[in-house]
Amino acid sequence: MEANWSHLLNLLLVLLSPIAFAAGFADTLGKAGNITGDETLVSANGTFTMGFFFLGPSTNKKYYLGIWFSVSSSDAICWVANSERPLSDKTGALVLSDTGSLLLRDGSGQVAWSSNSTIASSSSVEAQLLETGNLVVRDQGSGNVLLWQSFDHPSNTMLSGMKVGKNLWSGAEWHLTSWRSADDPSPGPYRQVLDTSGLPDFVLLDGNATIYRCGPWNGRSFSGVTEALGNTYTDLLTLGVTISPGEISYSYTSKPGAALTRLVVTDDGKVNRVVWDKSSRGWTHQPIFQGPRDPCDDYGKCGSFGLCDVSSVLSFCDCLRGFSPASPSAWSRDTSGCRRNVKLQCSSNGVTTDGFVLVKGVKLPDTHNASVDMGMSMKECRSRCRANCSCLAYAAADIRGGGVPSGCVMWTDNIVDLRYVNHGQDLYLRLAKSELDKDFPLAAVVAPVAFVGAALALFLLIWWRNKTKRNASDGPWSPTMGDLSFDLPTVKMATGDFCQSHVIGEGGFAVVYKGELPDGRTVAVKRLKQSALTDKGRSDFAREVDVMANVRHGNLLRLLAYCNEGGERILIYAFMPNKSLDLYIFGEPSDRARLNWRQRLDIIHGVAHGVAYLHQGSEESVVHRDLKPSNILLDDNWKPKIADFNTAKLFIKDQPDQSDPTIVVSPGYASPEYLQGEMTLKCDVYSFGVILLETLSGQRNSPTKGAISNAREFWQQDRAMALLDPTVPLPLSTPDSEMRSELERYVKIGLLCVQEAPENRPDMSAVVAMLTTRNSDINLLPRAALQNVAAATCT
Ligand SMILES: *[C@@H]1O[C@H](CO)[C@@H](O)[C@H](O)[C@H]1NC(C)=O
Ligand SMILES: *[C@@H]1O[C@H](CO)[C@@H](O)[C@H](O)[C@H]1NC(C)=O
Ligand SMILES: *[C@@H]1O[C@H](CO)[C@@H](O)[C@H](O)[C@H]1NC(C)=O
Ligand SMILES: *[C@@H]1O[C@H](CO)[C@@H](O)[C@H](O)[C@H]1NC(C)=O
Ligand SMILES: *[C@@H]1O[C@H](CO)[C@@H](O)[C@H](O)[C@H]1NC(C)=O
Ligand SMILES: *[C@@H]1O[C@H](CO)[C@@H](O)[C@H](O)[C@H]1NC(C)=O
Repeated sequence: MEANWSHLLNLLLVLLSPIAFAAGFADTLGKAGNITGDETLVSANGTFTMGFFFLGPSTNKKYYLGIWFSVSSSDAICWVANSERPLSDKTGALVLSDTGSLLLRDGSGQVAWSSNSTIASSSSVEAQLLETGNLVVRDQGSGNVLLWQSFDHPSNTMLSGMKVGKNLWSGAEWHLTSWRSADDPSPGPYRQVLDTSGLPDFVLLDGNATIYRCGPWNGRSFSGVTEALGNTYTDLLTLGVTISPGEISYSYTSKPGAALTRLVVTDDGKVNRVVWDKSSRGWTHQPIFQGPRDPCDDYGKCGSFGLCDVSSVLSFCDCLRGFSPASPSAWSRDTSGCRRNVKLQCSSNGVTTDGFVLVKGVKLPDTHNASVDMGMSMKECRSRCRANCSCLAYAAADIRGGGVPSGCVMWTDNIVDLRYVNHGQDLYLRLAKSELDKDFPLAAVVAPVAFVGAALALFLLIWWRNKTKRNASDGPWSPTMGDLSFDLPTVKMATGDFCQSHVIGEGGFAVVYKGELPDGRTVAVKRLKQSALTDKGRSDFAREVDVMANVRHGNLLRLLAYCNEGGERILIYAFMPNKSLDLYIFGEPSDRARLNWRQRLDIIHGVAHGVAYLHQGSEESVVHRDLKPSNILLDDNWKPKIADFNTAKLFIKDQPDQSDPTIVVSPGYASPEYLQGEMTLKCDVYSFGVILLETLSGQRNSPTKGAISNAREFWQQDRAMALLDPTVPLPLSTPDSEMRSELERYVKIGLLCVQEAPENRPDMSAVVAMLTTRNSDINLLPRAALQNVAAATCT
């Protein structure tokens, strides 16, 4: 859409005539002056320009007064004054009236637009285009009072420092409105507003109908836009929501020196965040965020008590656990939603046998009618919800505390617009006791198989943090899922009947084929070898299905389906065209050069988030036990996906055959205590630290020499930069000093993770916090003390 603007507007530069330049760049319009023809105002440091531009065909040009980014005049108009009353020629003029109103007059003197800001009379009013892109009218006579600002009257673009929301005193509302079309800036049907009922939610409307929600504000981001927690965003800007007696608003602030960015509601009903790329002198081709991004973002896609899963094989929509499709026809499930299977047992005096089931990793449902109490703890929230028969679900309202969420949001009438997202939040759903006591379907399928080998040491260990009592009301995993099972003929068709030419990898226990599903998706099909179908092999398979079917995280390889017909045990995963991390960090220089500095940091972040997710379970956690670069696959955007959750090695050739099936040891990645047979979550932290150091240094770690000892050595000598693999492409725009401090921070975190004593290593949630918070305090032993550690490990 926006691309069209450029040809419609590419004559714009011509409008900026030499006269305007000769006159110098003024940013201020006084009462005596005017802006007409090709004249412009330019903000102090030149970022924004205001003047006339035209749209439409050359035979029917329409002239508008607007503000644009000076660097990209032709394709980013941020604000338009007379969007509904264009002028037919260039003879119009902007003047500042005696009473402080900005007036746009056409050639005949008619007012086409007015700011309507008035004061009795003042000789010292002035209009100024600020460096933020805000056009302000001030009365300098009386303490520089702000009479009017363009930021209070947004067009389709949100700039740094602008607000969207409500002024509770005046009732005024700030929102973005789409253009009608690419060459007509008059108000179109789409609006981006802040829904301030319930938790603040950034919502896209078509007329009065909600078409997309970013999700409730959780203190860090909007619940469904978890991209905002990643480096791409945090390097660029800071998000903020203001909740005060006078105002509820959302705004963002660009970081000093960061690339220009803007949020636009397009005329085809999308909300995009785009970034200016200095090197190509253009806006990035792909927005760094776009909403709605997939079918699950369509508001209310799965109806009441439905749950949308964009990676689901069979249908996007499913019902929450304890609910069934309201309409018998599966095809209409999308809109008609789901009905509760068993009535809640709750009497008006609050006596109840109901409990809660945990739905993990979601964008929280619409909170428009929900009640919110920011002062409650999660525990209070739970008991409050339980005691009120009309409370159907609850969740934390504020997750800034990391591991300790707080605040309480309770839903009483309906659960709508729920979907899975990467790094999503936890929702606790109320169900009748009999529903909670039931095993959910997949577990029922695999349980008998799992039982056989359950006594054996498992490659994927379910870690019971609270061994004493398993609370039946919070299931171990988000238990809501469709049936992932596939029949054998479908799998055979996908792989050309397990044709040899489809083989893409083979390990001791399984062969991996590349396949294509009937819907065209490319998948990796992992088929257990018959020799691996021992009791243990079967139980590992069951374990992997059981765990993976319930684990949903953007940094974990997603199990799409499985098949356990007859003697076959088959797992189907998304296909990862870029294979595994080791190929790039340890590869030929040309391969190494394919992952630049920023991508490497993003990969480290992704892996940290994925491991933290595995570890975070409230009652049980998953220990991966075999984290290493060859188990980290890369999707087509180089996003890391942690793989290999059982014995059979996916995509791995360097894996020695394990004769002792109870221990997985990858030398160089296993922590000292794990080598002694002691198993905790901190084993994964150690392996993560090794991966971090390897990803930056390009050096393999080994028990004797390698990434860890080098890192310690360089750290002691205060030469962290020397650790970086010299083939890694560096960002041109980032100053050396900044890169250096960033690298030092990462190396520090890596060294923290590989400390010998497990109790000294941070847990994964702390690692994630350190990685994501620039200024976080990272307590590492002083360099001198480290020397001793290093010395100790070398002996
Ligand atoms: C704009 O200002 C110039 C002098 O600076 C004056 O000649 C012209 O008449 C003014 N135009 C309008 C429309 O006020
Ligand atoms: C303009 O740039 C200078 C130098 O970079 C800076 O010191 C000043 O604060 C900037 N002014 C504004 C209004 O941003
Ligand atoms: C200014 O006031 C006029 C007359 O009341 C109105 O038509 C116009 O829409 C107002 N302009 C703005 C920008 O609010
Ligand atoms: C939106 O709602 C307002 C008030 O509730 C109503 O006046 C208006 O006609 C509605 N607009 C559309 C497009 O339905
Ligand atoms: C909120 O309540 C109103 C009135 O009962 C209802 O029309 C609307 O659908 C509800 N919204 C949600 C998100 O449940
Ligand atoms: C239960 O919650 C609803 C909605 O928040 C509230 O209106 C009602 O007063 C509560 N009932 C009790 C008994 O607290």
